[in-house]
Amino acid sequence: MVGLFRLVSGCPGPSGFGSASTAQEVTEGIDGTNLTALVTGGASGIGLETSRVLALRGVHVIIGARNMKAANEAKNKIVRENPRARIDVLELDLCSTNSIRSFADNFIALHLPLNILINNAGIMFCPFQLSQDGLEVQFATNHIGHFLLTNPLLDTMKNRVKATGIQ
Ligand SMILES: NC(=O)c1ccc[n+]([C@@H]2O[C@H](COP(=O)([O-])OP(=O)(O)OC[C@H]3O[C@@H](n4cnc5c(N)ncnc54)[C@H](OP(=O)(O)O)[C@@H]3O)[C@@H](O)[C@H]2O)c1
Repeated sequence: MVGLFRLVSGCPGPSGFGSASTAQEVTEGIDGTNLTALVTGGASGIGLETSRVLALRGVHVIIGARNMKAANEAKNKIVRENPRARIDVLELDLCSTNSIRSFADNFIALHLPLNILINNAGIMFCPFQLSQDGLEVQFATNHIGHFLLTNPLLDTMKNRVKATGIQ
């Protein structure tokens, strides 16, 4: 009950932050220059704000997006505001197993480290439709897609932890 009250009112919890806190407030003072993050659906909404704030803290951000035009516009917007932002865009359609495989292959071929994986992209309340793999599109995007994306990237993430000690 107290938790629900806090959530609705935005009152800070023991951490000093609450549901009204922004990503920028929560990350104030954090140096992310040694970190690399992948944000799916980073071209709009919560993913865009997450990418913007991570880049503001020095993190190298890779945006995985199916709409490359929107993703490049998002990248340019972030860089205009913060010319030191390190942002790259890679094509990823979570509704397609072929696209996920190519994305993972391309990412691994770049030999980039990976510290943070933010499986943010998602759809909801969409009309019934099947993906090209024959799965219902919301289930395919929000669940199966991110599962298939995370698996091939796990070794890259574990290697980064071993090499740096940063969990
Ligand atoms: N906003 C809320 O209140 C709320 C509440 C609960 C949960 N969430 C969850 O939080 C996440 C972000 O929400 P949001 O409000 O920021 O949503 P949003 O503005 O609709 O953004 C979703 C992002 O996911 C991308 N995406 C969708 N399908 C994709 C696919 N097959 N492959 C690659 N990217 C895809 C979209 O790209 P396109 O432009 O190409 O579609 C878009 O960039 C979602 O998972 C959502 O379900 C949000």
